[in-house]
Amino acid sequence: MLRRLHPDQPESFAFTQANMAWAEGQISKYPAGRQASAVIPLLWRAQEQEGWLSRPAIEAVAEMLDMAYIRVLEVATFYFMFQLQPVGSVAHVQICGTTTCMICGAEDLMAVCKDKIAPKAHEVSADGKFSWEEVECLGSCANAPMAQIGKDYYEDLTAERLSEILDELAAGKVPVPGPQNGRYSSEPKGGPVVLTEHVEGRAEYNASVELATTIGDTVKRIDGTEVPLRTPWRDRSDEKGDAEPETHAPKLAEDVPADDTGVDKREAPVEPAAKVESPAEDEAVGTRPEALEGPREGGADDLKQIKGVGPKLEELCHSLGFFHFDQIANWSEDEVAWVDANLQGFKGRVTRDGWVDQAKVLSSGGETEFSGRAKKGDVSED
Ligand code: FES
Repeated sequence: MLRRLHPDQPESFAFTQANMAWAEGQISKYPAGRQASAVIPLLWRAQEQEGWLSRPAIEAVAEMLDMAYIRVLEVATFYFMFQLQPVGSVAHVQICGTTTCMICGAEDLMAVCKDKIAPKAHEVSADGKFSWEEVECLGSCANAPMAQIGKDYYEDLTAERLSEILDELAAGKVPVPGPQNGRYSSEPKGGPVVLTEHVEGRAEYNASVELATTIGDTVKRIDGTEVPLRTPWRDRSDEKGDAEPETHAPKLAEDVPADDTGVDKREAPVEPAAKVESPAEDEAVGTRPEALEGPREGGADDLKQIKGVGPKLEELCHSLGFFHFDQIANWSEDEVAWVDANLQGFKGRVTRDGWVDQAKVLSSGGETEFSGRAKKGDVSED
């Protein structure tokens, strides 16, 4: 199947404030310079927020992670879990069409979707509320046929029951997920024949359904206020042993004005940030090296001769007052720590690429293997 960007794209994309905080927390899980590792979580959160991945969303994620747009597009188009076209405002229905479900009636379920939603998969229904698609085995074969609606599984379906479920969702209700034929989980239809002593006094729902009903985000668009991401590794006050650790995670929302489908229309998205960066300098790490207000007479050195420094990083260095090789060559360990912590979007690059050693060679008039190639234009720009 050809997976392309949808022809109709929104003007822009912005994470909600809480989702942006969540995304920053995800990025902070990875070492400096390895932010790209967060690409799938961030794309997924963008989809959880909007329902699908638009081009502006893909580009916003690329900018946050300092990745080329094409790299992020490659990820988004490779994985089928990413929806590249608008989905229904209430729910996107994924019907399992693999062997077990097919034998047990998946085609009947798809007929319901064609009738009630749209004749073709990935089309949005006339009322805008639903879309559907056929997917491969979802691993719930013992409860075939089944469908994933939003985040949860509806199992042991019949055409009639699926039709009812769609009606309930359209009316703003969220039917209880799990088996729809009275089974508790995946025991024989006539009831369990082993472990029968566990039937008495068991919880109302099996563990999956229990969790689904507790969380209640089956078809909810995620705005980031649901479950805050805790990032204790970012909280320096933890290290100091403070009783109340600072947290970057958003607070749990109170009185969230969600309707029965869980859709919260309260929070307007914030403008997108080009990168995950704080405008304030991080003075808590290391010592700030002496900075210049501008380059000395004769102009700035070409910092791009240092391996690992591209045009963006050079610009960032200038903004911090670093223009010359000898400035960098004289940084102490403490000063390197400060610069590493303050290269927003490029944290840790000084240490990772050994700037100081390179700068020592370059400031004394020597040449490194990289600077030699850079002068000949034999290197790609970062
Ligand atoms: S075949 Fe449908 S869940 Fe496995």
